[in-house]
Amino acid sequence: MENFAGRLIGREGETAELGRLAASATAGVGQAAFVVGEAGVGKTAVLELAATTAERLGMRALYGAAQELERQRPFALIASCLEMDATPADASRARAAEILRGNDRYGLPEVLGGTGEADFATVEAMLGLVEELCAQEPLALFVDDLQWVDPASLLVVQRLIRSVQQQPLLVVGAYRPEPRGEADRLSQSPVRGNCAVLGLAPLKPPAVSALLADLCGGEPGPRLRNMAEGAAGNPLYVRE
Ligand SMILES: Nc1ncnc2c1ncn2[C@@H]1O[C@H](COP(=O)(O)OP(=O)(O)O)[C@@H](O)[C@H]1O
Ligand SMILES: [Mg+2]
Repeated sequence: MENFAGRLIGREGETAELGRLAASATAGVGQAAFVVGEAGVGKTAVLELAATTAERLGMRALYGAAQELERQRPFALIASCLEMDATPADASRARAAEILRGNDRYGLPEVLGGTGEADFATVEAMLGLVEELCAQEPLALFVDDLQWVDPASLLVVQRLIRSVQQQPLLVVGAYRPEPRGEADRLSQSPVRGNCAVLGLAPLKPPAVSALLADLCGGEPGPRLRNMAEGAAGNPLYVRE
């Protein structure tokens, strides 16, 4: 994952909160959070900064983003986040990857999404892998674009969050609130008591000015400021 290169403006509260959660996880009491906001508002940027913070605290930080075209591929997101897609270098990942492949071979995927225990073996393998990684060093998992998550990965994330406090584990998910879907239900569900929900609002005018100044390397002129007003505090639009 590429760490956020620029300066993150106006997200001090969210960044501090994620830093606190990471510190707690490092100390052995795992934590979970969701970062929620519209496209372009800065979810990925906040995750990237949080990953840097987690690494600074001595955690292993892993990042995966759900892909719109992989919503039907069971475990697509979690397998990519846990770096099982390529040829896994270590024994723990290789074992989990083998179980995942077996699942593909026997055509179990169709039954997923309905009943939770449909693919018991693979879910357990993923949870076991996370546990092993946590035993090696504190682990921070960043799962981005959950609005596109495949149901099997969502189940794993849900299970991780349910027992998160028992491991040196930080789970941070991000998603858009619209359209309301699977991921949204996740933060409304029983795991909710176990996780913080951080809503990203549009940037306030002073933050937009600071972003503009960063982008054009000085005080922006009136024309640029006018154009930026049309972006309604969305950093992606401001940049464009
Ligand atoms: N608070 C911020 N300060 C500076 N740049 C930001 C900020 N938030 C987002 N950006 C930049 O705006 C663009 C869109 O942000 P991104 O994190 O990709 O949004 P999202 O993941 O919510 O769609 C990126 O280029 C990102 O680096
Ligand atoms: Mg994003």
